[in-house]
Amino acid sequence: MRRCAGRTSKRVRLAAAFALTAMTMSLAACDAGAPDTAAVASEAASTGAGASHASVPVAAVPAAAHQAGQTRAQVYESVRQMTALGKQLFFDASLSGSGKLACASCHSPDHAFSPANALSVQLGGSDMHRTGMRAAPTLKYLQSVPAFAEHYHESDDEGDESVDAGPTGGLTWDGRVDRGADQARIPLLSSFEMGSTPAKVAAAVKAAPYADAFRTAFGEHVFDSDDATFKAVLQALETFEQTPEIFYPYTSKYDAYLAGNAQLTQAELRGLQLFNDEQKGNCASCHISQRTRDGAPPQFSDFGLIAIGVPRNRALPVNRDPHFYDLGACGPERTDLKGRAEFCGIFRTPTLRNVALKKSFFHNGIYHSLDQVVRFYAARDTNPEKFYSVSKGKVQKFDDLPQKYWANLNTDPPFDRKPGDKPVFDEAEIKDVVAFLNTLTDGYKAGGGSANSLAAK
Ligand code: HEC
Ligand code: HEC
Repeated sequence: MRRCAGRTSKRVRLAAAFALTAMTMSLAACDAGAPDTAAVASEAASTGAGASHASVPVAAVPAAAHQAGQTRAQVYESVRQMTALGKQLFFDASLSGSGKLACASCHSPDHAFSPANALSVQLGGSDMHRTGMRAAPTLKYLQSVPAFAEHYHESDDEGDESVDAGPTGGLTWDGRVDRGADQARIPLLSSFEMGSTPAKVAAAVKAAPYADAFRTAFGEHVFDSDDATFKAVLQALETFEQTPEIFYPYTSKYDAYLAGNAQLTQAELRGLQLFNDEQKGNCASCHISQRTRDGAPPQFSDFGLIAIGVPRNRALPVNRDPHFYDLGACGPERTDLKGRAEFCGIFRTPTLRNVALKKSFFHNGIYHSLDQVVRFYAARDTNPEKFYSVSKGKVQKFDDLPQKYWANLNTDPPFDRKPGDKPVFDEAEIKDVVAFLNTLTDGYKAGGGSANSLAAK
């Protein structure tokens, strides 16, 4: 049980606001978090069913659902109801100001809940022509993102407790919220996304075909005030986002490989090695590729906030203003770390699970293929002119981060080279790394390649 206890401690932090019994919590953490033995992982991989035997994630039992004295069966039933409602809300465009935008418009289930189109930033707002400054991320594998901490220490079961991993965790690219419910508030109210208000959302829910189910799940009084209805909507969305078999099934080819149920091709194996090699890609130093000490499958992120100097995306409307910079954790979207220079230019390391289903990469969506991304890592420092703007024959390296923040940029491999050195990867190695990244897509069926398996409706 020790291994599960370790997982639980992290989840307790995440779910601190939830009123749950310790027993439900550790049970759900063990069930849902991650198969922690090869046997469970291999069962998941071979059935392709992931953690379907455990449909209640620990953080998914909102306090409101859990009144003192509820039995476990009642708690599970209430999670089931909220999950079903959350799913309907997720696809419901009537919650938006324009009536045209649902969460699913930007987070498509067929693309691991990232956008179906290749736009760097999505369109929204009242006229559906407004844009923000960031690419919409995948919503899968967010269950292990810890709450934001300026100085993060892993639990002993996951890594080395004594190491200060620096700023880590939180949702969105800059880690500015910790809970799915608080996150959902952002796009619902943002003028360039769903552009709604709590009153509009409440009116939409009251008029929706699921209004009765909403009352059943949240109680008679849920429609007494717009505020109560809005809060319930946020809760239901958060609960839906924690459905293990949809959001963290661990059914990629790589999971099957780790469980001993699939072989990687020669190219994929070479790619994995380059990915892990500390002198080459060193990718795994941030995008963890190995099981944790307690046997949980890798998340392909350590959730650290890091500056890697992604080039300015000049196609973004916000960047028409030469004085505008998206500085990640130090603002402007995030406000609590404003003026803290050491947080400027850092963004949360995304998971690479299902990354091959994405069509725009990095926080500003500047690249549109994995090939381009891997080339950036391979040659950012050896051939910066290939990635950054060149003005009067001089390359403007790190053109999206003012020079006063350059001390924040990561300089570990693969970012330890200079012009004249060989790029980290040659052409064949770039292909191998991309081949490996393609093994991280969920829905792998032994012998049958990779299929994506979520009924969207
Ligand atoms: C117009 C497109 C758009 C819509 C609609 C939208 N999102 Fe997002 N979503 C984004 C973008 C862009 C980000 C990254 C925001 C940032 O970093 O500031 C994001 C981030 C997220 C995250 C955090 C992911 C992470 O890696 O931390 C979650 C969770 C999320 N959205 C859920 C939702 C939910 C729930 C809805 C519906 C209520 C929704 N989104 C509607 C574009 C959208
Ligand atoms: C020092 C930590 C670090 C290392 C090393 C690292 N990455 Fe990343 N990776 C990040 C961060 C941080 C981002 C997001 C950066 C941003 O958007 O500003 C990212 C983004 C990505 C993305 C885009 C994902 C998305 O959803 O947009 C891919 C693909 C990727 N990395 C692959 C790799 C590969 C392949 C390697 C090795 C060659 C690697 N990374 C090495 C931290 C790292």
